[in-house]
Amino acid sequence: MLLTPQGEIRLIGHRGAAALAPENTLASFRMAASLGIRWVEMDVSLLADGACVIFHDDELQRCTNGQGQLAQSSLEQVRRLDAGSWFAPQFADERIPTLVEALREIQRLGLGLNLEIKHEGEDVEALVTPVLATLQQEWRDADSLLLSSFNHQALRLCHQRAHHYRRGQLYEAIPENWRDHLRAIEAYSLHCDWQSLTPQLAAAIKDEGYQLLCYTVNDPLSVASHWAWGMDAVFTDDPRVFSGKTCG
Ligand code: G3P
Ligand code: MG
Repeated sequence: MLLTPQGEIRLIGHRGAAALAPENTLASFRMAASLGIRWVEMDVSLLADGACVIFHDDELQRCTNGQGQLAQSSLEQVRRLDAGSWFAPQFADERIPTLVEALREIQRLGLGLNLEIKHEGEDVEALVTPVLATLQQEWRDADSLLLSSFNHQALRLCHQRAHHYRRGQLYEAIPENWRDHLRAIEAYSLHCDWQSLTPQLAAAIKDEGYQLLCYTVNDPLSVASHWAWGMDAVFTDDPRVFSGKTCG
């Protein structure tokens, strides 16, 4: 489990509570909090004008009534979009949140945060610089924050420039050189697809002293043995499926 100011954490709400409200919206974070979730994960992405927003996909189509590439859109353009109706009509007022709005709402709710930095291009600095500046201004308690990314370079920049925020390396499948990656950024945690974890890998990760987090788990039975292997916490779209179930 993660030992945090919010208590002992085994469940992290994925994109808020993505099965119950439109993912990565303020409504989704409120939904997670209302279900007793104490930590949430969300994805921060960069727009064409340098603004940072909470959004997962490269394309606008799946989670808004807009079209085209997120990274080629301006804040003014994406703010006009309805980011909730695609999920259910009662969420029609939801907008793509800015990073600032999301950080304020998550702190207002008393939640801890895993902020995933989404960047696949070359110029990762263009996203990391404003993200760290915004955190510096808005986020009060470093112990309630964990930064993560699939992009190792993003985490190297975070390590160099904001050492006081914990860092987690994200993987789909864990590569052979995971130790080098985690050492280079003095990582707190390794996050991976639960399907890619083996008992041997879990034991090695725990032997090195890292926290081990698995995404995205919506059936408690699928990770029944992972807890015994040493898995510390899971990301879930639907915290309700874990109620009454043993987590570790
Ligand atoms: O951070 C865990 C998980 O969110 C990583 O994958 O694609 O859902 O952002 P994705
Ligand atoms: Mg994510």
